Amino acid sequence: TRIAVLKGGWSPEREVSLNSGAAAAKALREAGYEVFEIDAGRDMAARLLEAEPDAVFNALHGQWGEDGCVQGLLEVMGLPYTHSGVLASSLAMDKQRAKAVFEDAGIPSPFGRIVSREEAAKGHVMETPYVIKPNAQGSSVGVFIVRKGENRPPAELTSKEWSLGDDVLVEKFIPGRELTVSVMGERALCVTEITTSLAFYDYEAKYAAGGSSHVLPADIPDAVTDRCMDLALRAHHALGCRGLSRADFRYDPGAKDEQVYCLEVNTQPGLTATSLSPEQAGHCGISFSELCAWMVEDASC
Ligand code: DAL
Ligand code: MG
Repeated sequence: TRIAVLKGGWSPEREVSLNSGAAAAKALREAGYEVFEIDAGRDMAARLLEAEPDAVFNALHGQWGEDGCVQGLLEVMGLPYTHSGVLASSLAMDKQRAKAVFEDAGIPSPFGRIVSREEAAKGHVMETPYVIKPNAQGSSVGVFIVRKGENRPPAELTSKEWSLGDDVLVEKFIPGRELTVSVMGERALCVTEITTSLAFYDYEAKYAAGGSSHVLPADIPDAVTDRCMDLALRAHHALGCRGLSRADFRYDPGAKDEQVYCLEVNTQPGLTATSLSPEQAGHCGISFSELCAWMVEDASC
């Protein structure tokens, strides 16, 4: 079976995707597939026609690769591809619209609203503490926490170099702990807690060696584990996801009523050496090679 692995691309998560793609390609070769690696540029369609794959392993992250655009191209080309389809990808990538879907499905998510980045930069858009993030990016690129007493606009928000969209999501900050759950089709795998010595689990913490630690399985009450697994599966279904996805949560042990909030679903979770989903699969006895092979067998269009 011939597999084309799409990696790289031109979103801010290019580097992450190059690593995810290289890892997936290696794993697929180990599983016996014939693999072509394509650094996805605007000539992607031509490269795919040349490669004549039986299926496409989409290892792209972020804009174009994770938001339904590439999925649409692959639909038009009639090529089966891994992970979620067009609608689920674009809904999940738009954090505010995903919140509406979550609300409809009874999945708690922190209160948020969209403002222009100029408005966000002026401050006082929400009671502190709150989070400012681009509405449609991944890997915590361009995310800021505004804490009590420091309602100062981050300078980056108004800089000319900002290329992360003019609408930003301002979202109530949920204190406490960061948890994540991967879903493989119909199965929620397990709960990992992410701890970091840096200010929060930002881009650097995610990908620098030693930037964060994963506690797997998370040392949390059983009821919280069950709640996260259930919410992850429900979020996957509510958005209409397929294959592998990963839901990120905040857990506030001090809250009286709802303690677990879903921040987002990642429809193209990272597959790098420090990534969470391969680690969770491994914990469940599924090797990385088996995980990638399962995704390819599950591919459709
Ligand atoms: N956006 C990165 C790749 C992740 O969610 O793992
Ligand atoms: Mg994300």
